[in-house]
Amino acid sequence: MSEPTKQTAPSTTSSAASGSAPAAAEKQDRRRSRRAGTTVTSDGIGGLGAPAPDSFLSVRDLRVHFPTDDGVVRSVDGLSFDLARGKTLGIVGESGSGKSVTSMSIMGLHKPGTVRMTGSIRLGGEELIGAGSEKVRSLRGKRMAMIFQDPLSAMHPFYTVGHQIVEAYKVHHQVSNQVARKHAIDMLDRVGIPQPNTRVDDYPHQFSGGMRQRAMIAMALSCDPDLLIADEPTTALDVTVQAQILDLIRDLQSEFNSAVIIITHDLGVVAELSDDIMVMYAGRGVEYSSADAVFREPQHPYTWGLLSSMPRLDRERTERLLPIKGAPPSLINVPSGCPFHPRCAYADRTGGLSQSERPPFAEGIKGHYSACHLSQEDKQSIWENEIRPTL
Ligand SMILES: Nc1ncnc2c1ncn2[C@@H]1O[C@H](COP(=O)(O)OP(=O)(O)O)[C@@H](O)[C@H]1O
Ligand code: SF4
Ligand SMILES: [Mg+2]
Repeated sequence: MSEPTKQTAPSTTSSAASGSAPAAAEKQDRRRSRRAGTTVTSDGIGGLGAPAPDSFLSVRDLRVHFPTDDGVVRSVDGLSFDLARGKTLGIVGESGSGKSVTSMSIMGLHKPGTVRMTGSIRLGGEELIGAGSEKVRSLRGKRMAMIFQDPLSAMHPFYTVGHQIVEAYKVHHQVSNQVARKHAIDMLDRVGIPQPNTRVDDYPHQFSGGMRQRAMIAMALSCDPDLLIADEPTTALDVTVQAQILDLIRDLQSEFNSAVIIITHDLGVVAELSDDIMVMYAGRGVEYSSADAVFREPQHPYTWGLLSSMPRLDRERTERLLPIKGAPPSLINVPSGCPFHPRCAYADRTGGLSQSERPPFAEGIKGHYSACHLSQEDKQSIWENEIRPTL
């Protein structure tokens, strides 16, 4: 398999788990993970591992459920991770796996009264779940900011781009309009908008798709946020602009030492950018480790599927696109046991466990977590003999 080049060192500071391990196993996991310099949690039973010492964002057993007329949508159902400043976490999964709901939960953007949210989201030591909406709103901009997939959803069509950056900046900075405008022009310049002096007075619809994305990044970064969440920031853009946007996020991150979450359905996008990768399926974390480890020795059949459907630059695009068969499940009727079992080619190798028991999120290899009933030996052997040779 060709390993995407990674330019960042693997992080040893973050790890997570969700699963139904009993308390004793959790204690054991914690002891083991302390040795590895990581933390681990298990879901349910209330046991939550302590955040990693340098963790800036710490999510524990996050559950986000939407009661609807058709039933409860379990959009996120036990998700835990840590993220340190200066580090990037890539969250990857097919459409409908709960990625955007996760980011909206961190940003406190769900409509009150429509959602049941439990678990813990700690940002810089402050608990966000249960914090008042005023409190969470006050953190947006400076403490955390988000780049949305669709810039038009984040920008007001009736105000100029410059005006919107100025307003975002002034919420957290007591400065004159003139100073804020200068800052807006600087930010537009920095994200590569040509003639920022004049473009600052344009309306969003006067910008091309790529430029709007840049303008939204300028807006999101205008207050040097400590945490930046980029939710599918490049999906709607052509390949060249995609690469520029990703470079931009990387540059700005190193300048501001921000913690960054990149959300995408495309493993290729996070390969180069991420220190750690969380693979999500049906609202749960299924694999979590350093990006190097996820590409070098992926532990979960779903991740194998994602890797198999990833185009490679050095071969004909069509040669290797093996989509994962079937479709992601409804999050109202999540399959029993392992939610991936109806699509998994290895489900019959676990003696019925795949169909009946939710696999615990376990640290099979040091610092590398996955939720799958296959034995470590089976995972290793399937990966080495059946999957890797086909990539
Ligand atoms: N406000 C809501 N009410 C009910 N269901 C929702 C709501 N927001 C998202 N969902 C559902 O939650 C699931 C996860 O959505 P989302 O997080 O947007 O997935 P993605 O991984 O593609 O970003 C989807 O099934 C979606 O329909
Ligand atoms: S637990 Fe079973 S169904 Fe789920 S990924 Fe592992 S082998 Fe496949
Ligand atoms: Mg989404």
